[in-house]
Amino acid sequence: MSGKDVTEVVQVDAGGIARAAAALESGELVAVPTETVYGLAARADSAEAVAKIYAAKGRPDFNPLIVHVRDLAQAEELAEFDDRARDLAERFWPGPLTLVLPLREDAHVAKAVTAGLPTIALRQPAHRVMQAVLEKVGIPLAAPSANRSEHLSPTRAEHVMTSLGSACPMVIDGGASEKGVESTIVALRGDGTWSMLRPGPVTGETLNRILGQETAQDAAGIEAPGQLARHYSPGKPVRMSAKDHEQDEFFIGFGSLSGDCTLSSSGDLNEAAARLYDCLHEGAASEKPRIAVAPIPYGEVGMAINDRLRRAAAQSD
Ligand code: TXA
Ligand code: MG
Repeated sequence: MSGKDVTEVVQVDAGGIARAAAALESGELVAVPTETVYGLAARADSAEAVAKIYAAKGRPDFNPLIVHVRDLAQAEELAEFDDRARDLAERFWPGPLTLVLPLREDAHVAKAVTAGLPTIALRQPAHRVMQAVLEKVGIPLAAPSANRSEHLSPTRAEHVMTSLGSACPMVIDGGASEKGVESTIVALRGDGTWSMLRPGPVTGETLNRILGQETAQDAAGIEAPGQLARHYSPGKPVRMSAKDHEQDEFFIGFGSLSGDCTLSSSGDLNEAAARLYDCLHEGAASEKPRIAVAPIPYGEVGMAINDRLRRAAAQSD
């Protein structure tokens, strides 16, 4: 434990990156901006450091973490890459695609990272700050989203502090995350089948085009331990596909439906994804006891937006 009771906010400059890298090397947690959401990072090779992630988030120990790598070569030290995996990495890395692959027997990661599974989730992030940190530390970094388990994901340094408080000793303030929703997760299995475990910025249609038809998750018996129905909770009821709203509802608008906060007045889904958690955090902080959200189309990244909203709404069922 750091023993500090405030979160140290460091800036995106050489001094800030060096301080964050030193903290990570010594086994501390640092929240780092990525292009999707902020991640709560720890060195992936240290059981003590990884245990701090689970403690800070209140995350159940059966829910494994994504490991962030500086490049494909570093990823290949951790997982078995077949041709499909290498092809996807070459197409989409650095970027918002996480690959779940067979764990290498000699992989240098703490057991808790994979929650004892024979697979590991890997991603090379596109954000220059996370890249600089990975470069400086030289060790892969385990990093789930930097929020309390089940709560809203952070797309700004302030969101990290609201959710984790002093449980996160240091955060690098890199401004707002560009994509705004978590990476797409794809599991590639040794028998040649695959499944999308979480929709995200890389769409299902794109993956179907590259990999061929997806295998139904039930048929494959795949485990997606983190995809609990209740997740991304703003702590109050959420109503989706709302064409109008009640007085006691904080209204999140889209397109021609404008609200207390609007995802995109021009109806741009990428902008809506980038603003999703910002609006949900605003709704959570508002004095209104409920949140209503305008209908969001399912095309492109709209699938991921609707997935997160459905889980945010699940608490009120
Ligand atoms: O965009 C992102 O992916 C962000 C940034 C920080 O990189 N990270 C993120 O991590 O969203 P987290 O922990 O909030 O979500 C990781 C998901 C969980 O649902 C977890 O269950 C799943 O990845 N996961 C990790 N390892 C897995 C594995 N071996 N098999 C199946 N699912 C796995
Ligand atoms: Mg998360």
